Amino acid sequence: MSASPARVTAPEIAGRKDSETPLVMITAYDAPTARTVDGAGADMILVGDSLAMVVLGYDNTLQVTTADMAHHVAAVARTNPHALVVGDLPWLSYHVSTQETVHNAAQLIRAGAGAVKLEGGRKRLSHVEAIVDAEIPVMGHIGLTPQSIHALGGFKVQGKELDAAKQICDDAVALAESGVFAIVLECVPDGVARMITDAISVPTIGIGAGRHCDGQVIVWHDALGFSGVGRKAKFVREYAHLELDATQSLERFCADVREGRYPSSAETYHMTDGMAEQLGLYGGDREPELAP
Ligand code: KIV
Repeated sequence: MSASPARVTAPEIAGRKDSETPLVMITAYDAPTARTVDGAGADMILVGDSLAMVVLGYDNTLQVTTADMAHHVAAVARTNPHALVVGDLPWLSYHVSTQETVHNAAQLIRAGAGAVKLEGGRKRLSHVEAIVDAEIPVMGHIGLTPQSIHALGGFKVQGKELDAAKQICDDAVALAESGVFAIVLECVPDGVARMITDAISVPTIGIGAGRHCDGQVIVWHDALGFSGVGRKAKFVREYAHLELDATQSLERFCADVREGRYPSSAETYHMTDGMAEQLGLYGGDREPELAP
């Protein structure tokens, strides 16, 4: 896969730290969702491990593997987007040895990502450094880290107490020093996000972290009203109701089929005159429909 020369790069994203215009990252998991995100002008497409929940129907993100992620990164990358493609390293792909970690990151790069993202702070520094050492740009992710759902006791806002806020700030500083090009801050109070954003030299990308980050990320299905009937998080703004629109559109298709309106003659391939006559030799008592 050859990267488009115009594709946004991780160093360009890092260089936008002091830009007036916030960065935009939106998730995508396949070719059509990638085309909508790139067509909308996002700076980055995140092939997130939220794939497990919003596409594959699991209750958490722990079920996807590096092979699953590579499969979806490749589908996104084949659309040759302008935006930087960030591939999410799934749970346990960067927790064991540094060698395994670098090989897993390389799988996502070979599938077409321009950078990888992983969750966790100081605990993961040696693995972050090993990936950066292999010349692969890394995006950090701290605050609510969904891969730690069992350790955290659920999907909850993080950093509400002083000590927890301090831990998150220290993680952010350590990650920035270890060479990440940006950090996702998920579900932390806006004051904490602001302090981190002011303290570190790489962009912060918020999700449920208020307006003081250097950018914002949203999950495609949340933004477009495609999240089923589950409880909507406070920070989600729905820009469409595509799940409802899709259901209503398909209800019309069902009705058209059942009531004989689909397919019409114009939506049908017809035989030529001569062929109809010849086929007539084989019998059949219906009048054939001929090409107009
Ligand atoms: O997997 C994902 O979609 C993410 C975002 C929520 C940041 O990590």
